Amino acid sequence: MTQKEKLIAAAERARLRAHEPYSHFKVGAAVETADGQIFTGCNIENSTYGLTVCAERVAIFKAVSEGHKKFTRIAVATDTEKLTPPCGACRQIIWEFCGDIEIILANLKGRTKSYRTRKLFPKPFDHRFL
Ligand code: THU
Repeated sequence: MTQKEKLIAAAERARLRAHEPYSHFKVGAAVETADGQIFTGCNIENSTYGLTVCAERVAIFKAVSEGHKKFTRIAVATDTEKLTPPCGACRQIIWEFCGDIEIILANLKGRTKSYRTRKLFPKPFDHRFL
């Protein structure tokens, strides 16, 4: 299994832990650190809806909170025909913490497609404007 396949498999496993009683839409994410570690996340919903946190942000915040600052790729897994891209808020967070990395979208049938952050988030707001 390649490291990329491992990352996707980790995202798929994390997806099974999604807390999604409102949308019933399970998402898993796995981010790879520069030193090859993998941190995972699932979406965690809330009855007040707006407090829901996406899988991508959970994975990134777990890694950052464990002291990681450099990332190489992130995988996002859903059980859909059309691959699920990160939402706008997650694109901002991916840009902030990961920069222009590979974003791998995957479904459970083995379909994958990769994008660079810059492609999905072409004109970001960041520290350069502060
Ligand atoms: N969701 C994610 O976790 N990541 C995405 O990339 C898209 C959306 C979650 C948020 C919410 O729990 C559910 O999917 C439906 O929007």
